Amino acid sequence: MKIAVFASGSGSNFQAILEAQKEETLQAEVALLVCDKPGAKVIDRAVAHNIPIFVFDPHNYNMKAEFEQEVITKLAEHDCSYVILAGYMRLIGKTLLQPFEGRIINIHPSLLPAFPGLDAIGQAFDAGVKVTGVTVHFVDQGVDTGPIIAQQAVTIEDGDTRADMQRKVQEVEHALYPKTIQSIITKKMKEVSIHE
Ligand code: GAR
Repeated sequence: MKIAVFASGSGSNFQAILEAQKEETLQAEVALLVCDKPGAKVIDRAVAHNIPIFVFDPHNYNMKAEFEQEVITKLAEHDCSYVILAGYMRLIGKTLLQPFEGRIINIHPSLLPAFPGLDAIGQAFDAGVKVTGVTVHFVDQGVDTGPIIAQQAVTIEDGDTRADMQRKVQEVEHALYPKTIQSIITKKMKEVSIHE
């Protein structure tokens, strides 16, 4: 099973997925990194691991449909069955959503539906919540909406700073995301073998 990871920033989740692949707790091959931010740190991580990269600048296109069409071509070239969003800070349009319906997964650093959108950790910190967490969900046309697949709570202690909250949430992300991707893939494989 080949997967593509989409990311816009640091790529710590991308790295966690690669490590799970190496340790074989994730039985999938990261066959492509798609990045919409030339110069993002995640690109260096992909280069270091010899992962093929498609990087583009959305400003060079008139419409989302144009770059998404190119992305679809790349996904086909690299034989990717699933799209894994790992800090890809851009809404998926219908050009990509339609052919990949049910096969695009996102991770979000809050217990959705609380704190969707940008800077979820900052939003949760400012709200003073004592429990936050991580959500993995299927992607639909909304902002961090779509059916929830997995959630894990993170407890915030008195005195925790925003940086503490971020560290705790990301630690959970790095374990939960590869594990959840693996369970989705396993389920899919079983469905395929039943229908064969
Ligand atoms: C992660 O915390 C991820 O949950 C979040 O971006 C971060 C990327 O970190 N995604 C969203 O907020 C999506 N709405 P990373 O680049 O170190 O993996």
